[in-house]
Amino acid sequence: MTKVILVTGASSGIGLALCERLLSHDPEGLQLCLACRDVQRARDARAALLASHPTAHVTLVQMDTSSVSSVIGAAQEVKRRYNRLDFLYLNAGIMPNPHFDVKAFFRGLFSSRIVTMFATGGGGILTQEDRVTADGLQEIFMTNLFGHFLLIRELEPILCHAGLTSQLIWTSSSNAHPSAFSVDDIQHRRGTQPYSSSKYACDLLSLALNTHYNKQGLYSSVTCPGFVMTSLTYGILPFFPPFLWTLLMPLFWLIRILTNTFTLTPYNGAEALLWLFKQQPESLDPQAKYQSSTSGLGKNYTQPRKVLRNPHLCGDKTCWQGCEPEGQSVWCYVVGALQHHPGQ
Ligand SMILES: NC(=O)c1ccc[n+]([C@@H]2O[C@H](COP(=O)([O-])OP(=O)(O)OC[C@H]3O[C@@H](n4cnc5c(N)ncnc54)[C@H](OP(=O)(O)O)[C@@H]3O)[C@@H](O)[C@H]2O)c1
Repeated sequence: MTKVILVTGASSGIGLALCERLLSHDPEGLQLCLACRDVQRARDARAALLASHPTAHVTLVQMDTSSVSSVIGAAQEVKRRYNRLDFLYLNAGIMPNPHFDVKAFFRGLFSSRIVTMFATGGGGILTQEDRVTADGLQEIFMTNLFGHFLLIRELEPILCHAGLTSQLIWTSSSNAHPSAFSVDDIQHRRGTQPYSSSKYACDLLSLALNTHYNKQGLYSSVTCPGFVMTSLTYGILPFFPPFLWTLLMPLFWLIRILTNTFTLTPYNGAEALLWLFKQQPESLDPQAKYQSSTSGLGKNYTQPRKVLRNPHLCGDKTCWQGCEPEGQSVWCYVVGALQHHPGQ
C-alpha cells in the first residue's frame, strides 16, 4: 500500500534532504506532498526531486505556517486530495534576527559547559527578536509550533483511522531548553530566546499529543537534526561570507570527534527523520528525542535521548516524568488559542 507523506518546510535544508532520502528509500511506494510557503521555491524543490526520481509521486501545497488562514486553506486542499495521511513531518521552522551573544560565548568557552554549548547552542549564546503576526500571535511560536498544531487538528479526519496508525514527526532542536520556557509565557512574548522556547514547547506538546491521540492510532515523536549547515544556520552570522563557513568546516569536523551532534549536512541531519519512518510507532518512546548523529568517521545513526526534563519539578537532571503537567499546560493553551482565534 502506498504511504502518503506530507512534509512542511520541504523547499530547502533538512526538509528537502528528507524528501530526497524518503524517495531513495522507496521510489515507487510513496505519495509525497511538499507543503511550502513560497510556490516558486516549492516548484524548484519538486523539480530537483523528480530529476533524481522521475517516476515519483510528488505534489505541492502552498502553506505558510505563520498564517492561520493559510494553514486552514492548505489543510482543506490536502483533505480534498487524500483520504488518509500516514506521516506528517512538522519541519518548517524559523530563527529570525538571531543575535550571537559574544559575552555568553566566552563565558561558556571557559566553563565546564563548553561541549554542551557547542553541541546545543545553549547557554544563552543565541537570542532572537520576535514580532507579532497579522493573527496577533508571536511569529516564532506561530511558525514553529502553533501553525503545525492547527494543521494537525485540521487534518485529524485523515490522520486518525480505526485500526491504522499514523505518525507526527517534529523537527525539534537540542537548543530546546527548559530554562527558556515558561508556562506563564508560552508564546515567549517577554523573553529573548523565543526559538529555544518554541522548540521546548514542541517537545512538551508532542508528549501531550501522545496522551490525547494514541488511542486513535496517532503517534507523535520529536527529533533533533544536530548542527546542520543550512540557511537557518547561516542566518546566525549574516555578516559571515559563505567562503568563511567553508573554511571553518575542518574545525567542525574536528568538533564532531567530541560531539556526534555536528551532523553538518542536511542529508546527515535528516537521519533520525528517516529512521522514524521505518519504525513501528507503538515501539517508540514518547519521552525520547531522536537525535541524528554522525560519528567522527562520518557514519550516520540515530540515538534516542531522554532529554525532556523538568528540574524545577524533579530536582533531578535525568528526571522527565515531571514534564507531563507542563505538556498538558501547552496542550490547554493551544487548544484554547484555537477556540478563541478569529481565523477559526
Ligand atoms: N540547521 C540546524 O542546525 C537545525 C538544528 C536544529 C533544528 N533545526 C530545525 O530544522 C528545521 C528545518 O530547518 P533548516 O535548518 O533545514 O533550515 P532552512 O533551510 O531554512 O529550512 C526551513 C524550512 O522551513 C520553511 N519555512 C520557514 N518559515 C515558514 C513558514 N512560515 N511557512 C512554511 N514554511 C516555512 C522554509 O521555507 P522557505 O524556503 O520559504 O524559507 C524552509 O523550507 C527547522 O524547524 C529548524 O528549527 C535546524
